[in-house]
Amino acid sequence: MLEVVVLVSGGGTNLQAIIDAVEAGTITNTRIRGVISNNKNAYALKRAEKHGIENLCISPKDYASREEFNVKFMEAVDGWSPDLIVLAGFLVVIPPAMIEKYRNRIINIHPSLIPSFCGTGFYGLKVHEAALSRGVKVVGATVHFVDEGTDTGPIILQKAVEVEEGDTPEILQRRVMEEAEWRILPRAIDLIANGKVEVRDGRAVVSS
Ligand code: GRF
Repeated sequence: MLEVVVLVSGGGTNLQAIIDAVEAGTITNTRIRGVISNNKNAYALKRAEKHGIENLCISPKDYASREEFNVKFMEAVDGWSPDLIVLAGFLVVIPPAMIEKYRNRIINIHPSLIPSFCGTGFYGLKVHEAALSRGVKVVGATVHFVDEGTDTGPIILQKAVEVEEGDTPEILQRRVMEEAEWRILPRAIDLIANGKVEVRDGRAVVSS
């Protein structure tokens, strides 16, 4: 059974997609052990509560230093002994010690086809604003392992989405979520839960 801890900061629609997929059995051999947010008002926490999933808020704002937060944050995650940590719209920098300890066991969903429109400053609507201003015809989402960089770890799954005439950043964001994010993140978790993803020479190899 893959024990999963999900880290969130906002609305939690990706968390909801994971919850729904576990409950529907499209994600197998997996339990969501807990949810952590840095934002006490994150609707994602309410989603976890509604489904009886343990959840807590740990915010850097509640600590005198980032180092102190990092220690408490790591203790909370370690306390649930996760096999996999999922960043589902988590906006806090992951402590280097956590990346080291959970090497190739932390995944992130990014709302673009990496390496486009990613890296520092590319999050949320900013990603879609940049795509529309560049005039790309295809966008999408990426699930990747988290390493010390920003959106630079081995890519596990990607899914393309067409840009349509008249798209606003909000419309495009919604389509990328519906058609890509909410599909490939649960699928990536199911693949990992069933031993179908491994990292070889810095690349994620997915066996079907
Ligand atoms: C999503 O667009 C995701 O790609 C990005 O942050 C957003 C989180 O949305 N990482 P939600 O909280 O899952 O609704």
